[in-house]
Amino acid sequence: MELLVPGWRVEWLPIATSTNDLALERIRAGRAEDRVALIAGEQVSGRGRPGRVWRSPPGSLSLTAMLPFWPERAGWAALAAGIAAATAARELGAPTGLKWPNDLLLDGRKLGGVLVESCAPRWIAVGIGINVINSLPEEEELRGRVARLAEAIPDVTVEQVARGVLLWLDVTWGWLAEARMDRLRASWEELDRTTGRTVRWSRDGSLGVAAGLDETGGLRIRREDGSVETALVGEVTFVAGPTEN
Ligand code: BTN
Repeated sequence: MELLVPGWRVEWLPIATSTNDLALERIRAGRAEDRVALIAGEQVSGRGRPGRVWRSPPGSLSLTAMLPFWPERAGWAALAAGIAAATAARELGAPTGLKWPNDLLLDGRKLGGVLVESCAPRWIAVGIGINVINSLPEEEELRGRVARLAEAIPDVTVEQVARGVLLWLDVTWGWLAEARMDRLRASWEELDRTTGRTVRWSRDGSLGVAAGLDETGGLRIRREDGSVETALVGEVTFVAGPTEN
């Protein structure tokens, strides 16, 4: 696949271990390059958060962008990537939303996710995985929890999705560079499928109701006693009666 996207240099790899690992190696070796994206046709050791395996069969999008990073805005970096991916999916016709910090949801099921990793003060590897036209897991337990873009957009291609994600990543990273948190917040709020849900925070298993973002991009969680704590690390699962996702 040859992909020409204004502002980007795309390296296409038919098969890779993990595009995040490859990007991190380059960053560590001092070979980071702004707006270079590695895209793999499939990954054999794709990684999810936190430390999970990420399935990346042919027909899915596995993309890692090397981008500049501002540690003082670390909490917004992951959100900027999620906004870009969700907006690209919406523009193609899939009504995608976000679960904090950066799961992409389609019809309440997981369409994709973001894994941002930094190993140098000023560079970050922004990994995005999206189910596009790939096969989904057969296991009954997983089938009801995952989605792919082809459900909403029958003729979608991986190239189309990659192009849209990169074009939007350029926009949201521009907002991050200029510290336009107001823009990031407004976009995130439009895509937000987290606020108002009862959530369990992975850090300590505690429960609360998600109450929007704080000024660092963390998720406010309102406890039963009315107190509010901000989740800055980890992730949340939705608690809805007997099932969680
Ligand atoms: C998640 O757990 O939701 C995050 C998934 C991130 C997967 C992407 S695919 C491209 C990049 N390379 C990886 O190994 N992981 C990320």
